Amino acid sequence: MIYSKIIGTGSYLPSKVLTNYDLEKIVDTTHDWIFSRSGIAERHVAAENEFASDLALQASLKAIEAAGITADEIDLIIVATTSPDMHFPGSACILQGKLGIKNGGAAFDVQAVCGGFVYALNTADMYIRGGQAKTVLVVGAEVLSRMLDWNDRTTCVLFGDGAGAVILRSSDKPGIVVAKLHADGSHRNMLKADPTISMDGQAVFKFAVKVLSDVVEEVLEDQKLTGADIDWLVPHQANIRIIEATAKKLGVSMDKVVVTVAQHGNTSAASIPLALDAAVRDGRIKPGQNILMEAVGGGFTWGAVLIKW
Ligand SMILES: CC(C)(COP(=O)(O)OP(=O)(O)OC[C@H]1O[C@@H](n2cnc3c(N)ncnc32)[C@H](O)[C@@H]1OP(=O)(O)O)[C@@H](O)C(=O)NCCC(=O)NCCS
Repeated sequence: MIYSKIIGTGSYLPSKVLTNYDLEKIVDTTHDWIFSRSGIAERHVAAENEFASDLALQASLKAIEAAGITADEIDLIIVATTSPDMHFPGSACILQGKLGIKNGGAAFDVQAVCGGFVYALNTADMYIRGGQAKTVLVVGAEVLSRMLDWNDRTTCVLFGDGAGAVILRSSDKPGIVVAKLHADGSHRNMLKADPTISMDGQAVFKFAVKVLSDVVEEVLEDQKLTGADIDWLVPHQANIRIIEATAKKLGVSMDKVVVTVAQHGNTSAASIPLALDAAVRDGRIKPGQNILMEAVGGGFTWGAVLIKW
């Protein structure tokens, strides 16, 4: 049996930090309102000349180093992003070029907004299990600050920029155990960017808690596991109250949840690999543990992935 194993992680945040107090000077808001409603205290914002592929490159270089491989060993690149550098070429091709990879491996983007990383991870896993790829770079990279209306206090306080990357390699031991993905396009207007981000915050909140609880339950049931078997929940970081509600329904205590939303805000497809890298590098995530990831995003798309680390 072929599995995909994560053998290296990396992440990158732009150097500029925008705190809630900075936002008080831009829109009619307060630190207390933002922090109490979302758990966000600050977020990183890309420089004018910094694009999704630049953040992706820095995160990828760290993941490649952590995995102990050379870039040339990567035979597939998948970039999950909803804020690409340009309409085309795709961010994965731009990244392949910046990494100097010339081995002819495939490269493409996945657009599933905040659900993008779990979609990309599942796609990479299918390529590896199907024998079509051996070493895959999966990246979530976003510059959502470019898609915000900085006069709209209901949205501009919630999002941030960043990138996270993982290297997956085929292995005879698990690995990614199971993934479940879903979408429901009938809710496409509840959260969208046309061209700036707008949403029905309360409806998104309720929908997110419902589908995230359902999909983590679906993944656990598939493996005959319960919340007690999960060592670390690495959720999409949109809002601390969504994270807490999902963890509670799952029966996982908050000290087993990796939380970065206070420092990063919602970085869309980048949020899970950013949180994952933090918990791998500080030693929380260890070999043999059960890691559960879940995400929901505009579309709507949602999904969960269970990994034996
Ligand atoms: C957006 C969100 C934080 C708003 O919190 P909420 O408790 O639902 O707040 P409401 O939308 O009911 O707004 C309450 C009041 O605060 C005001 N408000 C909105 N944004 C504000 C801000 N940044 N600062 C101060 N006040 C604000 C509203 O205008 C409203 O005022 P009113 O009562 O006079 O009309 C919350 O709904 C949420 O997190 N939703 C999910 C969003 C999300 O995660 N999206 C991405 C999913 S991938």
